[in-house]
Amino acid sequence: MRKAFVAGNWKMNTDNHSGVELVKGIKDAAQANSSKVDVAVFPPFVYLQQVAKAAEAPIAVGSQDIYFEEKGAFTGEISSAMLKDVGCVYALCGHSERRHVIGETNEIVNKKVKASIDGGLLPVLCIGELIEERKAEKTFEVLTEQIKKGLAGLTAEKVSAVTLAYEPVWAIGTGLTATGEQAQEAHSFIRKLIAEIYDETIAENIRILYGGSAKPENTAELMAQKDIDGLLVGGASLKADSFSAMIAAAV
Ligand code: 13P
Repeated sequence: MRKAFVAGNWKMNTDNHSGVELVKGIKDAAQANSSKVDVAVFPPFVYLQQVAKAAEAPIAVGSQDIYFEEKGAFTGEISSAMLKDVGCVYALCGHSERRHVIGETNEIVNKKVKASIDGGLLPVLCIGELIEERKAEKTFEVLTEQIKKGLAGLTAEKVSAVTLAYEPVWAIGTGLTATGEQAQEAHSFIRKLIAEIYDETIAENIRILYGGSAKPENTAELMAQKDIDGLLVGGASLKADSFSAMIAAAV
């Protein structure tokens, strides 16, 4: 049985003080629901260490990105060892804003997924189609390419470290959430694809989160879908009240 997983991607938000307050503010909800829901937050790099220190069990901390080289002359980049060193457990790989704003390719994302696993972190591989791709009925084609290339070269053993996050780009930060039915259709497709690439057991065990304008009001509908195992939350994770409500509603 897959345990629910609610994760907050803070993106380029919070500051020295508010990030620590935010993680403290979700402690009660995380603790009260810990037998049924895993909770993680993804603060900006510069606040990771202090948020990780302030985060009490069972809240885990992850990075919004990672670099795939171990060390050396890569100005501005952060390695898996550095992330582990400051208390990270997870690493987002291939978030849509990195793909579409920064220009990351599937090949780069694949290297990041591998570097996360090899460095002892749990990657959350983000995938999702643009509105033009959905309108052109290319959603499944895009997801297939992102998954096959994103997981390329990963053995069955290694892929068990991966969480997938389906985030339709048209739903991110727009207030336009995918309906439960739309999200379930994509999640079910993704799970079948994992069964084809790997096997039924791996497909049954892998967690697939939904992201894109998820909020307290739509948490129950999304979580009621058979193949939705949790949520990757942007805007609504920036307020302790709304994120706590989502944790409680995700059980
Ligand atoms: P919003 O919840 O703000 O739409 O962001 C979703 C997201 O990109 C999480 O990674």
